[in-house]
Amino acid sequence: MIDFFEMKGVPFTREIAPHQLFDSSSYKEAAARLEYAVQNRQFCLLTGEAGMGKSTAVRGLVQQLDPVHYRYLYICDSGLTPKLFYREVLQCFGIQPAHRAPEAKRQYQALMLDIYENEKKIPVIILDEAHHFSESMLQELRFVLNFKEDSMSPLSLIIVGQQSLRNQLKIKHLEAIEQRIQMRYQMVALTEEETAAYIQHQLKAVETPHEIFSEEATQAIYQFSKGIPRKINSLCSLSLMDARLQGNKIVGRSHVERVMNEW
Ligand SMILES: Nc1ncnc2c1ncn2[C@@H]1O[C@H](COP(=O)(O)OP(=O)(O)OP(=O)(O)O)[C@@H](O)[C@H]1O
Ligand SMILES: [Mg+2]
Repeated sequence: MIDFFEMKGVPFTREIAPHQLFDSSSYKEAAARLEYAVQNRQFCLLTGEAGMGKSTAVRGLVQQLDPVHYRYLYICDSGLTPKLFYREVLQCFGIQPAHRAPEAKRQYQALMLDIYENEKKIPVIILDEAHHFSESMLQELRFVLNFKEDSMSPLSLIIVGQQSLRNQLKIKHLEAIEQRIQMRYQMVALTEEETAAYIQHQLKAVETPHEIFSEEATQAIYQFSKGIPRKINSLCSLSLMDARLQGNKIVGRSHVERVMNEW
């Protein structure tokens, strides 16, 4: 397929390099808020539907965190429990976790303060797939952020999840967590114009010598994907394959429709 379309690589994959990410307005807004949140040691909530680009925005953030000023940890574990959380943080930052939970918690507290006050770096902890967290894990976040009698936090905590996480945090007994969120952003889909620009951007990244998707095909992709990047990627990849099989160098609306009908 690469040769057929004269591409220098495979477009529309999740392996896209951080410097080649597409700057949609939602991506830019997420990036700016995440950056502000880590700089100011905030507790941040990033939400959005599946495939909207949340983990990608986080990838963009950690890529540009200067190791002179930050130490970060990214955890993507839908079954995360408080015990696993403390263990993971301690291990990743090079400390042998104590067997007993209260002791591990104390180690965590001391570690975070040490990084901030002595190493003069900001610890950044990112918890992805947080919409799967149990209530006890969400409740624990209060303690994860409580330092010096709840007067400060040496770290920035970013929790990332699908829409349901926002609703989950609104329930009465999680109000204390909800109130502590200092920065939040809900990612939105690409507009029709952005979808067209996204497709061109992806093709430019693999240096195709000419346009491949017709205007009608692009419109159909927007219509079916609703501007969700992961869906755009799937539709574009499958449509390219369909066009290739039929020997067409241009992807027209019919290829997109055929792919959709088989979805
Ligand atoms: N700004 C972007 N530039 C280029 N590609 C992007 C961008 N945002 C998203 N994508 C593409 O869309 C795919 C899905 O994005 P991502 O995995 O970040 O979604 P998500 O919101 O984390 O979804 P989920 O809730 O399922 O975890 C990525 O693998 C990537 O290929
Ligand atoms: Mg994700």
